Amino acid sequence: MATSTPYSHFSLILLSISSCVSGASIHRRLAVPDGYVAAPYYPTPHGGWTADWSESYRKASLLVSNMTLAEKTNITAGTGIYMGRCVGNTGSALRVGFPQMCLQDGPLGIRNSDHNTAFPAGITVGATFDKDLMRRRGEALGEEFRGKGINVYLGPSVGPLGRKPRGGRNWEGFGADPVLQAFGGALTVEGVQSKGVIAAIKHFIANEQEMFRMYNPFQAGISSNLDDRTLHELYLWPFAEGVRSGVGSVMISYNAVNGSACSQNSYLINNVLKDELGFQGFVVSDWLAQISGVSSALAGLDMSMPGDGAVPLFGDSYWMYELSRSVLNGSVPVDRLNDMTTRVLAAWFQMGQDSNYPSPNFDTNTQDETGLLYPGALFSPKGVVNEFVNVQANHADVAKEVARDAITLLKNINNTLPLKLNSTLKVFGTDAEKNSDLNSCSDQGCDKGTLGMGWGSGSARYPYMDSPIDGLKARGANYKFYDTNLFPITDKASPGDVALVFINADSGENYITVEANAGDRNIVGLKAWHNGDDLVKAAAKKYDTVVVIVHTVGPILMEEWIDLPSVKAVLFAHLPGQEAGDSLMQVLYGDVAPSGHLPYTIAKQESDYGESVELVGFQLGQPQDTFSEGLYIDYRHFNKEGITPRFAFGHGLSYTSFSFSNASISSVTPLTAVPPTRPAKGEVPSYSTAIPPASEAYWPEKFDRIWRYLYSWLDKSDADKAAAKANSTDKYPYPEGYSTVQKAGPAAGGAQGGNPALFDTAYTISVTVSNTGKVAGKAVAQLYVQFPTDISIDTPVIQLRDFEKTRELAPGESQVVKMRVTRKDLSVWDTVSQNWIVPNVGGDYGLWIGEASDKLGLRCGTSTGRCADDVKSPV
Ligand code: NOJ
Repeated sequence: MATSTPYSHFSLILLSISSCVSGASIHRRLAVPDGYVAAPYYPTPHGGWTADWSESYRKASLLVSNMTLAEKTNITAGTGIYMGRCVGNTGSALRVGFPQMCLQDGPLGIRNSDHNTAFPAGITVGATFDKDLMRRRGEALGEEFRGKGINVYLGPSVGPLGRKPRGGRNWEGFGADPVLQAFGGALTVEGVQSKGVIAAIKHFIANEQEMFRMYNPFQAGISSNLDDRTLHELYLWPFAEGVRSGVGSVMISYNAVNGSACSQNSYLINNVLKDELGFQGFVVSDWLAQISGVSSALAGLDMSMPGDGAVPLFGDSYWMYELSRSVLNGSVPVDRLNDMTTRVLAAWFQMGQDSNYPSPNFDTNTQDETGLLYPGALFSPKGVVNEFVNVQANHADVAKEVARDAITLLKNINNTLPLKLNSTLKVFGTDAEKNSDLNSCSDQGCDKGTLGMGWGSGSARYPYMDSPIDGLKARGANYKFYDTNLFPITDKASPGDVALVFINADSGENYITVEANAGDRNIVGLKAWHNGDDLVKAAAKKYDTVVVIVHTVGPILMEEWIDLPSVKAVLFAHLPGQEAGDSLMQVLYGDVAPSGHLPYTIAKQESDYGESVELVGFQLGQPQDTFSEGLYIDYRHFNKEGITPRFAFGHGLSYTSFSFSNASISSVTPLTAVPPTRPAKGEVPSYSTAIPPASEAYWPEKFDRIWRYLYSWLDKSDADKAAAKANSTDKYPYPEGYSTVQKAGPAAGGAQGGNPALFDTAYTISVTVSNTGKVAGKAVAQLYVQFPTDISIDTPVIQLRDFEKTRELAPGESQVVKMRVTRKDLSVWDTVSQNWIVPNVGGDYGLWIGEASDKLGLRCGTSTGRCADDVKSPV
């Protein structure tokens, strides 16, 4: 059973409330293993230096130069948890025309709302390997968020990356490979933002497990300890692509990296994100992840969410009125506040939210029409909070297309699939039919019926669930359904019957525990839930033909039954959202051939994934999670160790077959060992750095306060006292390495995403994909790079760099598919020069093309300029 509360962040609150007991102790940085460093980097680079944002910064600066201190601090923080209709609500600056901003989850659809679409989850999108669908789902999400009056879409999730197969939230992202994750994330950003909604790509960074993620008074949040090369080549890669796509916001994560909490890690925010990646938008905290006022401001945080301090719901904040005070007393430079404010406003202008943007018309706190306007307040006015605006339009179509084209056929003996319409079917497993009380578990915190998504803030309410049983009914299939996970003793199998066995595996966010699993799959491990293995085995004993259908958040172990002779076919339908039924029927009955591919590796046994990627359990002091495997996660690890997985990353069968031929490679931009010099930063807005008069922070006269609501004003005496302190000799203890002198920026920077030369196409590859089978189908061409074998730098055997899905090809039909590799794709991160280096400019990179990471039939060489199909694959 789920243990959750109507207020989904309640356990976050409990943790924070108790932090008043000894709040200070958590701020001290604790020791991490030798060699893992979070170096200081100050000051925060001013935003506005890239040409693509300059007009928005110009507009923003006109407002900022006219704003008072309290107006500025009011828009850089939330008004408090449950203090508005959205999961996060900023203050406003109405005098200059800036309304409150509404921030709302989540990656697969609007959380806790109505008349919205429950889209397939990120992991399902990843499994499509279809860039066009990634983008179109993003557009549909953008339309829905805009339609509900949401300014900021709290997604996509590209971290966790999926380092730990048991990790609770991997399913919110697109797969355990940085490039797949990057395309999924960046195309979602582009789709969402094309509708004027700001995307907040998250969680920055290395938030690879749920347990121990948060700081609390008794224990610091888990420290993900990783080296700089691993950071750049794996975990940062999808964020870099999101920034390159112009993302308006980045959400920092709860955990620490190399001992420094992400919410105040100046190396990560000031250096990596804002200078090296050239991020121009605003950095928002994860909810209650902020653990300090001044330190987080100096380290580059721009927005505190939901605004509360150590003790939520009591009207305390680290920022708001405290930030006003910190600016007045000189501890936070005015310059930093101006930059925060400008970044928030610039993102708003950049998406065009200054004209005709709707206000929120829904309430995340209740499904009722009327309710408390500020449920977190002691006394709150009431009003209409849900206007039930239908934002679904025709988005079910793209949702279904994603669900269908993600379905991954892992095994299909003797062409068992597709089924014939007249087959007699016996259907087993509660996962085949929806939970009759569809949205009864808050934030989907239970595993009942068809699993369409995991649990937590990344969930949405289902407007409906088209279940597999609905699908069978609609097809007029001849079936009998046993709604149980225990094999029914009464069942009688007749010759020719086909057993469809539905099993699943769930996971989610840490504030809800489901069947003893605290977000991560810490109890069930990688086994199917609800005795799924036994159900399959029992069916396999009685039936000659068993088809297993799996709804899952990630890999499951199938060794107990995968090789049983009667287990003829296995389909992964991932997490289809509301469209679980007809999407599956279209594949089961062969209207379309399956075209999904695995976005992760499925091992034969859990230990095959490697020891270092196990969940970290309780440790005295700050839990230390050291990424000692470096680059070697998922298939990179299997290939290095020579471990044969059960199903490799990228694996996916079809009802037809494809050939890849006529490959050719062309050099586009010649490589150099070091990228061309970065462009210099452009002009940024400049403002007076004088501390504003204390009067700018005084409460307005006769102001009707709501108790516990967070405001940015101070009592006159407090403001005056703070202002007087600015002249005292008693200075704030600035951190080591603190500086206020703006830097020119690192060599690896220069534009959004990094030095633009990194994204120059080095080679294009074209290949003819032909349907050589008997039915129509879509193929996925995957391109992996193998670094020249003569270099001294250790690199993974192969790494995905691009992919393309074909259109549906009729039997005998061909399509020429084009892919590319960039300079960055052929580089390694050099930790000494802090730059992307091509290790052997004239070396022969192998660009391997095929249908899966272990099915690579073609090799194009960069130095030979030739492609061949008779070379032995490295995997
Ligand atoms: C915490 C989650 O980690 C984050 O993903 C979410 O956006 C916020 N809560 C807001 O609900």
